[in-house]
Amino acid sequence: MADLIPFSTALRERSSGAHSGSEHAGFMADLIQGRGTRDDYIDLTAQHWFIYDALEEAADRMRHDPVASVFITDALTRLPAIEADLEFLLGPDWRDRIEPLPATEEYIARIRTVGATWPGGFVAHHYTRYLGDLSGGQFIGRLMQRQFGFETNGISFYLFGDIADPKAFKEVYREQLDAAPWNAAEQERVIDEVLRAYEYNTAVFADLSRAKAAA
Ligand code: HEM
Repeated sequence: MADLIPFSTALRERSSGAHSGSEHAGFMADLIQGRGTRDDYIDLTAQHWFIYDALEEAADRMRHDPVASVFITDALTRLPAIEADLEFLLGPDWRDRIEPLPATEEYIARIRTVGATWPGGFVAHHYTRYLGDLSGGQFIGRLMQRQFGFETNGISFYLFGDIADPKAFKEVYREQLDAAPWNAAEQERVIDEVLRAYEYNTAVFADLSRAKAAA
């Protein structure tokens, strides 16, 4: 019976609780409900830099893997956009002004480990970030634009100039997940890694709240 459910559907259903946890994390909820500040947005963008630096370095390494490479495309690459946003938001010395929070350190350590050793685990992290950016991220980007008066400077992370139709892109991505040559046991491991990826994201939000409270 389980075979009747496409893997991408099982993945989405099994991770929807963890998605809610990330979506409703205090820091994120405050930002999207208008209780966050411009500095909060900058702090989140800074953590994104460390996360995408690790993720896109792993993608470079996985580019020749027969399974992982199917998911990798330059159209998703976010690091240059994040760098442009940070330069706009913090100035030319942005790199000296940001550092990873402890939860971000743990998250990127995990991305580096699976990114060097396990294609399915890499895809789990790739899926959790980029499909999120192409889903809720699109809505978050527009909200930040309105709240803080950005035009495109400052929110280019959310603008995928090479993906004209995010919905169609996500459909193809899900077909690729369904076509990946993973047996049931590997599919379970990938789902578990996605759940773990959500936990890392939720932990980053919790650290951002803590850092804000301590400031
Ligand atoms: C306030 C924060 C968030 C909102 C409002 C939000 C909203 C959404 C919505 C509406 C969808 C469904 C889109 C569709 O059906 O095509 C979605 C999908 C998704 N979101 Fe979020 N999201 C948020 C935070 C996050 C976070 C923090 C992550 C992980 C880093 C994430 C990862 C995902 C993923 C991977 C999907 C695709 C699920 C799938 O179709 O397989 N989201 N999000």
